[in-house]
This record gives sequence, C-alpha cells and structure tokens, in this order.
Amino acid sequence: MNIAVFASGGGSNFQQIIDHVANGDLAVNISLLVGNNSKAGCFQKAIENSIPTHHTSPSHYDNPVDYVYDLLDKLEENNIDLIVLAGYMKMLPVELIIKYSQRIVNIHPALLPAFGGQGMYGMNVHRAVKSYGARVSGVTIHLVDEEYDHGLVIHQEAVPVYDTDSPEEIAARVLKCEHAMYWRVIKAISDKTITIVNGEVHGTLHK
Ligand code: GRF
Repeated sequence: MNIAVFASGGGSNFQQIIDHVANGDLAVNISLLVGNNSKAGCFQKAIENSIPTHHTSPSHYDNPVDYVYDLLDKLEENNIDLIVLAGYMKMLPVELIIKYSQRIVNIHPALLPAFGGQGMYGMNVHRAVKSYGARVSGVTIHLVDEEYDHGLVIHQEAVPVYDTDSPEEIAARVLKCEHAMYWRVIKAISDKTITIVNGEVHGTLHK
C-alpha cells in the first residue's frame, strides 16, 4: 500500500509512522509527504528519512483548478492508495475527497463529534475540553468528507481528564495516545483487519 501523508506542522505523528515502517511493524510505503509549509518540522523529517516531498498550497496558484490538478497529478503519479492527514491545516479540495472517497483518514485530538469542527485544532481543542469540564477526552481517527471533522469514525480511544489537568497536560496525554494509535490503524487498514464497505467500518483494532 502506498500512502501519502499530508501535514502542516511539527509532524510527530508522521515521525511515528516513519519509525514503525522503519522497524518493520507497518508494511506500507510512505511515498510522499504533502504540505503547505516547507519550513515545518514535517518537511525536515521527510528529508531526513529520504521521503519525497511535495510543497503546495492554494496560494501558489492564480486559478484554484490548477491547485486541484497539481494535487491529483502528484497522487496519481505516485499510485497513492491511502491519504493520511496528520495535522494538515488546509481543507482538501472536494475533487480529491470524491476521487479518494473512503481512502482519506484524519486524526483528531478529541472524541468526535465533541470538540470538533472549524477552529477546533491544536490547543483550542484542549482548552475547550478543560473549560467544558469534560471528564474524558481522547483520539478519533475518521474518514474525511467535505465537512470539518465529520466523516465516519474508524477508531476512537479515550483518555481521562483530571481536575488538576491544565490544557497542556490534556494535550500531552492525548498526543501520547495518538502516537500509539495512528500507525496501528493504518496497519489495520493495510492488512484489512479494518475494512470500510458502503460507508460502514468492519473490524476493530487489536493491540
Ligand atoms: C495532532 O494533535 C493531530 O490530532 C491533529 O494535529 C496534530 C498534529 O500534530 N490533527 P503533529 O504535527 O503530528 O505533532
């Protein structure tokens, strides 16, 4: 299975995927890193691990259609089977979502549908969890559709939230859970332990 990872930030989830491919736990090819910020840590990690990068953004093009074709061409050129969003801050073009329907996954640092949607990214999520008084938060891995944080849930894991937690402490606990989980879900998709058929998820993650 050829995967393209899309990222905009530091890329700690990307690094986990790289590490588990390197140690043989995860048998996929990381064919491409796609990102909109070539100065971000994720690009550095791709370069250090000899993973081809593609730097692109809607702002690079006068005509939005050219951006869409650029992305579609690049994915096709690399025979991409699965798109893995790992902290990607741009909305994907609808053409791409349609073409790769049920083949785009995202990781969100809360239990969707709570604490998701536009503006719910990074520390905003964990501050909202704290101020709402939620007793659990967690991680959601889901399919991507045209709405923010909306597609079918593939896997979720909860982490506790304690009275004394700061948003930063919640964030750290959730991120640790993300790191343990994302590569396993990708593995389960690639070895068909988890399948997505007609908008339903079949199978569960075995740890
Ligand atoms: C993660 O918290 C992920 O859930 C969210 O973006 C963050 C990316 O972090 N979608 P990193 O760049 O992988 O460290």
